[in-house]
Amino acid sequence: MKPAFKGKHFITLQEWKKEEIDQLLAVSKDMKEKFRNNVPTPYLQHKTAFLMFFEQSTRTRNSMESGLAQLGGHATFLDTSTMQISHGESAKDTAVILSSYGHGIACRNCFWNIGNKYLRGMAEHSSVPIMNLQCDLYHPMQGLADLMTIQEVKGSTKNLKVSIIWAYAESHKKPISVPLTQALLFPRYGMDVTLAYPEGYDLPDWAIEQARKNAEENGGTLTITHDMKAAYKDADIVIPKNWGSWVSNQSDAVIDDMLTANRGWKCTEEMIALGKPDVKYMHALPADRENEVENSVIDGKHSIVYQEAENRLHTAKAVMAMTMGDK
Ligand code: CP
Repeated sequence: MKPAFKGKHFITLQEWKKEEIDQLLAVSKDMKEKFRNNVPTPYLQHKTAFLMFFEQSTRTRNSMESGLAQLGGHATFLDTSTMQISHGESAKDTAVILSSYGHGIACRNCFWNIGNKYLRGMAEHSSVPIMNLQCDLYHPMQGLADLMTIQEVKGSTKNLKVSIIWAYAESHKKPISVPLTQALLFPRYGMDVTLAYPEGYDLPDWAIEQARKNAEENGGTLTITHDMKAAYKDADIVIPKNWGSWVSNQSDAVIDDMLTANRGWKCTEEMIALGKPDVKYMHALPADRENEVENSVIDGKHSIVYQEAENRLHTAKAVMAMTMGDK
């Protein structure tokens, strides 16, 4: 396989043309078929990537590590608390040195107002592709897997009602990167996106402006509402998930008065019943079960969360295979 996007950074899908994303999706589909049929995919033999994690991960770390092994290469997991970064080493020095040792650098850094800048700082000085494993603003690996899953389940994405809905959670103050990525990406595929959240949980104005532009240019729509039921009503896809109030409040505190006032924003069977009969429930995971969603919904017939999570493997392999190649 030719790495069609050799050396291209994967920081936000907004910087990838739709035709390029379509190529990534086609390769992801092929990877999935080959994985299912035990057909080898040795496209990155003897290639190495560094996976830098400032935060915890289950899906992202393991889809990247096992994905690169399945492509014939090797991924080195780096807990950044054990790197010289924790003594202040710069993004530039880290990027220059790691890129001289391998063929790709992937990084998760979700610290508010820091993560994306850190990735951009590395990209400026890296001679190999920088892959965003989630930052404060974007989670492109998740967005690509979500899009693949919606296409698999619904076929055409044109004018599907897809509702990205804030949900109550107590586990940690989660980044805005998943809903922001979805709000930017889905209208590019003609979806009618409803973004629903309690007052105070806004996404940044520049992102909403960009999402509206994406919708106008591609025949989709973006509707913002603070009415949870309106978002569930007649939906084809619902994505109820918590995100933190980072735009209005940069405190790290998980539980505050605004959060507890919105405990009612939960995906219940009653809410699912408002959607179309074949409405699908999605979540990037991990879910805060019984807070964000009732167990009977996430474990029920409308849920496609495991298919969505599995697709993280195939899409991660596509991104690596298409961007990391011969130096
Ligand atoms: N969805 C997702 O990114 O999962 P992890 O945090 O487990 O990587």
